[in-house]
Amino acid sequence: MAPQILPNYGPFDLKSAVVLITGGSSGIGQGLAEEFLKAGSTVIVTGRRESALKETQAKHPDLHIYVNDASKAEEREALSQWVVKEFPKVNVLVNNAGIMRSGPLSKETDWSARQSEIAINIEAPVHLMQLLTPHFLKQKEAAFINLSSGLGYVPCGTAPVYGGTKAFVHHFTMGSRFHYANSKIRVVEISPPSVKSNLGGGHDTGEETDVFCDHVFKRFAAGEAEIGFNFSEKARLAPRADNEKTSVGMWEKMAKGMPVFESEA
Ligand SMILES: NC(=O)c1ccc[n+]([C@@H]2O[C@H](COP(=O)([O-])OP(=O)(O)OC[C@H]3O[C@@H](n4cnc5c(N)ncnc54)[C@H](OP(=O)(O)O)[C@@H]3O)[C@@H](O)[C@H]2O)c1
Repeated sequence: MAPQILPNYGPFDLKSAVVLITGGSSGIGQGLAEEFLKAGSTVIVTGRRESALKETQAKHPDLHIYVNDASKAEEREALSQWVVKEFPKVNVLVNNAGIMRSGPLSKETDWSARQSEIAINIEAPVHLMQLLTPHFLKQKEAAFINLSSGLGYVPCGTAPVYGGTKAFVHHFTMGSRFHYANSKIRVVEISPPSVKSNLGGGHDTGEETDVFCDHVFKRFAAGEAEIGFNFSEKARLAPRADNEKTSVGMWEKMAKGMPVFESEA
């Protein structure tokens, strides 16, 4: 039988799950780590700042931490080797680490900063899935969970590169679901709306992080393959014309924040 684009995978054994979460020292990554810990899973979180990881671990002594920059290929290789050696039963990867950069492209002189947004949001999930696939295929069950965004469905003029990376994550995750269809690896997309976190330098607007994480975690545990919440739930299910209307509405609200280009013609 042909695989489905939105299967229900059925319940996941959370008690024996060993979960690697990239970027788990704040925001959604930390919230999901707490959900997995409550469910009895073993959890490892990564991030670039050791101090932030240690603060998170101080709140949750059972949490394992590993300093790692997911934007660098050699660090991703080191992470996958380390986790398989130290946690041979690792069977869940949450590709959560991500950044959002705004600001006019025309005023950018530092390509490396923009490139790292693309590297963290796109290269890291693809590479880490590639690196961990041989190990995950040996497990009784396994899951890749990728964090996209409502802005992957609804284009936003202030952060077109960010939205583009998240549209990639959405499309890549759907294709991967077919790619792994003949295996015991489930491929899940979690698509957040605006959630309070440090993203883009921090924002105190949007959904409460614990409410969002509790909601999406329950749906993951029940076997859902694509999970949104409020704005992003509506966007992921909406016809294109509706999302385009939302996009225009967002542009009108944010018009003052949009770059102004002076034509030389
Ligand atoms: N919050 C929202 O409104 C929202 C909406 C849609 C989608 N999302 C997505 O949800 C995910 C989590 O975002 P968040 O809102 O929770 O952001 P956040 O609060 O800024 O957390 C990001 C986490 O990732 C880590 N990180 C950043 N760059 C990294 C790198 N190169 N390597 C490893 N770790 C890195 C950060 O720690 P260090 O800085 O120490 O590395 C931090 O632990 C992202 O993929 C984001 O795009 C968020």
